[in-house]
Amino acid sequence: MTTANDAGPDAGDDAVRDNPFLPGELALFLDRKGRAYLQTLTEGEEFHCHLGFIPHEEVIGQPVGGWYTTSRGHVLLGIRPTLGDYVRLMPRGPQVIYAKDLGNIVSMADIFPGATVVEAGLGSGALTTGLLRAVGPAGRVVSYEINGEVVAKAKSNVESVVSDTSRWSVKVGDIAEGIAEADVDRVVLDLPEPWRILDAAADALHTGGILLCFLPTVLQVHELVMALQDDGRYARIETAETMLRGWNVTRRSVRPAHRMVAHSGFITTAVRCVPPGRQGYALNP
Ligand SMILES: C[S@@+](CC[C@H](N)C(=O)[O-])C[C@H]1O[C@@H](n2cnc3c(N)ncnc32)[C@H](O)[C@@H]1O
Repeated sequence: MTTANDAGPDAGDDAVRDNPFLPGELALFLDRKGRAYLQTLTEGEEFHCHLGFIPHEEVIGQPVGGWYTTSRGHVLLGIRPTLGDYVRLMPRGPQVIYAKDLGNIVSMADIFPGATVVEAGLGSGALTTGLLRAVGPAGRVVSYEINGEVVAKAKSNVESVVSDTSRWSVKVGDIAEGIAEADVDRVVLDLPEPWRILDAAADALHTGGILLCFLPTVLQVHELVMALQDDGRYARIETAETMLRGWNVTRRSVRPAHRMVAHSGFITTAVRCVPPGRQGYALNP
């Protein structure tokens, strides 16, 4: 399946510049109020909303970025969803990581093309999609999930936006009981008690590897950071959160959006180090 990032236009070729919607891919329709509707384009099906309907055949083969008229005469913009759009609108079970945090998780954990990343829990698979994109075709992502019931929906979500999932594997079980992978570059944890995973993560990470934990409350962050400081195998322990505020820009006024998702969670990172012994020093007293 093609998404906005996979199918960029080729400036040298008119046919490619038209950039048509393909059968089976995701389309995002936006009405004049900015409301978004996600559809998988399938021959013989119709997109219905309160503004009327559009047969998918009228969209397949037509340009991404084109204007599509519903049966009731309303005009919608049709584009490919970004990963952030998909995460916002996808079917979900457990709480997902939103786009505002996805980008900073990738940069603060320094997830690079070719990296081997272990994550837990899989949840709805939102974070997994971002990790798979960041590690690229030469990388690998292994997702641990304690609740086997969420795996099918997560797989379907991930496969909707990542065309090649051959470098991804899912393991059902408690990651605290151990990480089978060795020499791992990054461990990314989005689960309630990451301090229970410090042994498993330290065993799996090579020295210099990075552990990143996403937590919604300050009490959890405090417990985690105290455990990291006491552990001795982690250094450069840092915590941050992301606040992203939209702005409304019109010809006559430029002002901040009335509403913003200020808090979603805290990101704590730590580097797996050689235990300091006599030479080392406390980076986080
Ligand atoms: C907040 S959700 C993760 C959401 C996911 N990162 C996403 O973006 O869709 C937390 C998940 O961690 C799982 N989990 C909790 N403790 C776990 C453990 N010890 N090992 C593996 N998975 C665990 C839960 O079952 C749940 O699905």
